[in-house]
Amino acid sequence: MTLLNKAKEFKQEHLLAFYDELSEEQRKNILSDIENIDFSLMKDLYENVACAKAQKGAECISPISCTDATVMAEDEKKRLYNKGLESLKKGKMMALTMAGGQGTRLGHTGPKGTYDIGLPSHKSLFEIQCCGLKKVSEEAGCKVLWYIMTSHINHAETVAFFEEHNYFDYGKENIVFFPQAMIPAMDKDGRILLESKYSVNKSPNGNGGLFSSLKQIGGFEELRKKGITRIFICGIDNCLVKMADPLFLGYFEEAGYKVAAKSFIKRTADEKAGVFCKKDGKPAVIEYTEIPSELAALQDENGVWVYGDTNVLNYIFDIDTAEFLATAGMPYHTAVKKLTHIDIATGEEAIIPDAYKFELFLFDAFTSIDDLGVFRIERTEEFAPVKNATGVDSAESAREMYMEIHKEEKENE
Ligand code: UTP
Repeated sequence: MTLLNKAKEFKQEHLLAFYDELSEEQRKNILSDIENIDFSLMKDLYENVACAKAQKGAECISPISCTDATVMAEDEKKRLYNKGLESLKKGKMMALTMAGGQGTRLGHTGPKGTYDIGLPSHKSLFEIQCCGLKKVSEEAGCKVLWYIMTSHINHAETVAFFEEHNYFDYGKENIVFFPQAMIPAMDKDGRILLESKYSVNKSPNGNGGLFSSLKQIGGFEELRKKGITRIFICGIDNCLVKMADPLFLGYFEEAGYKVAAKSFIKRTADEKAGVFCKKDGKPAVIEYTEIPSELAALQDENGVWVYGDTNVLNYIFDIDTAEFLATAGMPYHTAVKKLTHIDIATGEEAIIPDAYKFELFLFDAFTSIDDLGVFRIERTEEFAPVKNATGVDSAESAREMYMEIHKEEKENE
């Protein structure tokens, strides 16, 4: 069997350890899982884990400039807003929500977008975003096309949720769901893990898998056929995101960048968030764990953090750049996580405390482009993340911020 030989070549033949005891259906499943593994990539990733740390820190960090919308004159904002709205009216931009993550910290069973943050209306995160799209679509006089990136883990449940809610009256034809690619997990000896006796332990390959997965489904051709040239991108878990924001689009059109990103100023020097900068002259995000403390604390003459523009995970990409990035290649990041798997020796479920999971980060795409438009917005108006079950960045904190901005929600319910 060629697949067995291939697995053997990469010392992964244990993936077929239970083959003889499987049903026909189960055999098909494990063989298809194995066929889809890029063994050379997995070997490289494993070998890179050890030297990844040593490679870091060599880059030259410098500040990146930004356009500060928080101090922009009202008439200038209006002008840019109208410019963006014109572009939306021509159907030039679509919205894309990245909803393929596993939402482990939140601990909600089911896709994160189905989560009810406890508003009086009990709108889910998906419905909150859909309401934002309805509002802007009404202003533009046409529906903004909405792509939703799922994963193979939550795809069926996500689609079923929309069906159950009649696509929130946004129109089934205006929403496209597509699953992102998956990547296997490994133990610390480089062995790919099994999830069951007939399936490989895989996870979504990170939000950086977005463009290659969009390309995989022929998304770029579809968008071009429709005359769409701009992609508005956001995560599912910011319930204050301004969907397809005309102001952001107006800025993008005017400034002429190929990629733009929203930011807000961090509150403290050591806030746990990635900030925009340049690395070796190219736009980048530097994680709070990576930035030297003297740079993190550096302020300009007005007392503003020089490295303070925090990554909101809200971007606009020009379609040609997005398509180029789909094949440009990005580095995988390794996370050490607790994982349940099938122990090959016993055939029983067991827990590995320190398995390797691999993830692509969308912000790594910035190092492949020449410049990035950083658009600084007001944090309290546009950022209310739902990451944790309780405490900081939880449903409770997000709900409070949402209610503060959407005061009408209280009155309407
Ligand atoms: P996070 O990094 O916060 O991950 O994702 P998460 O999966 O939602 O939550 P944890 O870390 O497991 O607790 C930021 C955004 O990127 C999307 C998420 O759905 C979220 O909108 N994402 C993340 C993907 O679409 N795919 C991925 O593989 C990872």
